[in-house]
Amino acid sequence: MLNDRSSLLSLLETRRSGTPREFAGAGPSAGQLERILTIAARTPDHGKLFPWRFVTVADDQRDALAELLLKALAADVPDATAAHREKEVNFAHYAGQLVVLVSAPIANHKIPLWEQELSCGAAGMNLLHAANALGFAGGWLTGRRAYSETVRSAFCEAGERIAGFIFIGRPEHALEERQRPPLATVSRAWQPPES
Ligand SMILES: Cc1cc2nc3c(=O)[nH]c(=O)nc-3n(C[C@H](O)[C@H](O)[C@H](O)COP(=O)(O)O)c2cc1C
Repeated sequence: MLNDRSSLLSLLETRRSGTPREFAGAGPSAGQLERILTIAARTPDHGKLFPWRFVTVADDQRDALAELLLKALAADVPDATAAHREKEVNFAHYAGQLVVLVSAPIANHKIPLWEQELSCGAAGMNLLHAANALGFAGGWLTGRRAYSETVRSAFCEAGERIAGFIFIGRPEHALEERQRPPLATVSRAWQPPES
C-alpha cells in the first residue's frame, strides 16, 4: 500500500500490466473493488459528462460469460476450432476481478467524441493505477471479442462500446519489464513554423 509521495512516484515509475491468463487466486475484495472504481471515476473529462461506465462481472457469472463468448465466436467465426472455443472459455474464467470498461459518449454533443473517448482511456489507466496501488496487477485486453456485436450488446446500451476487459488480480510470477520507448523518440521540443 502506498503511504507517501515517493512511493507514489516509485509506483508510477515501475508499474506495469499483468497477463490475466497468468493471474491466480482471489481478486480484490468488494471494498477494494469499490475503492479502485471510485479512483477510476476521478478522471479528467471535458464537460463533466463522465462518458464511461464500469461493468463488473461476478465470479459466479463466469460460466454465463463463457456462454456469451461462445455464442459470439459462433456468430463471428463460423469455422472456429475446438481450440478457439477453449480459449474463449478460459478467458471467461481468468482469475481475479473482471471489469468491463465501457465507452459511453454523448452523441452530437459540443464536446467532441474524440475527447470523450480519450477520457474513457484515461479512466482505464486510472483503474490500473488504483489496482497497482492496492497491490494487484491489472491487465487490459480487447481482441475480437471486444468488437463483437453479440458481446457489445450484452454489456452496453445503444451508442456505447467496449473499451476493454480489465482483469484485476495477482500474477503467478514476478512481472518482467517490457520495452519502453526511448524518451527522445516520443518527446521533442516544439519548433515554431518559420513565418
Ligand atoms: C486499449 C488496449 C487494448 C489492449 N488489448 C490487448 C489485448 O487484447 N491483448 C494483449 O495482449 N494486450 C493488450 N493490450 C496491452 C496490455 O494491456 C498492456 O498495455 C501491455 O501489456 C503493457 O502494459 P504496461 O505498460 O502496463 O506494462 C491492450 C492495451 C490497451 C491500452
